[in-house]
Amino acid sequence: MENENNRQQKSEVPSATSFQLGKVSLPNPVFYAPLAGCSDFPFRQMSAKYSPGLMYCEMVKMDALIRHDPNTYRILDFEKGMHPIGGQICGSKPQIAGAAAKIIEDLGFDVVDLNCGCPVDKVTKDGSGSGLLKNPQLIGDILAEMVAAVKIPVTVKIRAGWDEENICAAEVTAIAEQAGAQAITIHGRTREQAYRGPANWDSIKASKQIAKKIKVIGNGDVIDPESAKKMFEYTGCDAVLVARGTMGQPWIVEDILKHLKGEEVTPRSLEECRQALFEHFLFTESYCSPRQVVIEMRRVGCWYLKSSQGTREFRGLMSRASSLDEVRELILNFTPSPQGN
Ligand SMILES: Cc1cc2nc3c(=O)[nH]c(=O)nc-3n(C[C@H](O)[C@H](O)[C@H](O)COP(=O)(O)O)c2cc1C
Repeated sequence: MENENNRQQKSEVPSATSFQLGKVSLPNPVFYAPLAGCSDFPFRQMSAKYSPGLMYCEMVKMDALIRHDPNTYRILDFEKGMHPIGGQICGSKPQIAGAAAKIIEDLGFDVVDLNCGCPVDKVTKDGSGSGLLKNPQLIGDILAEMVAAVKIPVTVKIRAGWDEENICAAEVTAIAEQAGAQAITIHGRTREQAYRGPANWDSIKASKQIAKKIKVIGNGDVIDPESAKKMFEYTGCDAVLVARGTMGQPWIVEDILKHLKGEEVTPRSLEECRQALFEHFLFTESYCSPRQVVIEMRRVGCWYLKSSQGTREFRGLMSRASSLDEVRELILNFTPSPQGN
């Protein structure tokens, strides 16, 4: 487990300006994670303004993709300004993995990723998502099919292991490299942990030590510029993937890159957060139905104004808002409550 003593042994922080993924050049090594139900089209419009090195769409099922399910295709909507962008597929059948990866490539994605991390029972019960961690060789078989089917780089996202007794990140890293994957993201939690407790960065470090050609992307508890730098230094990873840290902080890549370069990072003011929330609202309004906007903004509203003083009342009103006009007015008229809570 990562601790203060271990953090003394520091790796070099990579260049904050470029990252080579196979034949694809990415602008920086700070990536935005797939977040099912969150990293949707409006979220990615907001993220794209700050130019992450790469951002991933929410995961989609291989089976749904190959039967051309319209809802699945809608999840993969993107626009020109969102490049570089990765599509992530979830499934456990090597026989359809190549066709699914090819659809992602043909849609214009820059990267295709295999999900081996989803902890949800519904997904793992057929051996998909983190269920694949119980069968590392199958991960290799699926990746080999994907690599054979596409020209874009293939990546894979795993967890440290199924549970504490079965940590397999380094083993899967070697298998993924052998199968031709260009990068592996390791979320340093086990499936058993789901999203609870601290991420174990040792599993990421072990994977980096075993990797020869494959790039290692560190994920888990990167929530601000300081934790990103520590992730690089402690694990020696080639890039970091920010997940929950992107919620309500679409600019986090800018802050991390500044910090890596030794520049000062100025925290965003409450007014800047309010303006960003309004912009997110406008993006959502032009993409979703009015009903959907209200539902989305109940959640998104709380992200942007969560850590500041004087926002509790706003969050309460937002989570009970019932119409588009009410949501708009709440955001436009927000002022921090004088009690400061
Ligand atoms: C709401 C939510 C949705 C997620 N959806 C996906 C997904 O679609 N694909 C995936 O590989 N990981 C998914 N994850 C996992 C994250 O990408 C990431 O690995 C995890 O949150 C750990 O990083 P963090 O500690 O920085 O949040 C999801 C996580 C959350 C909280």
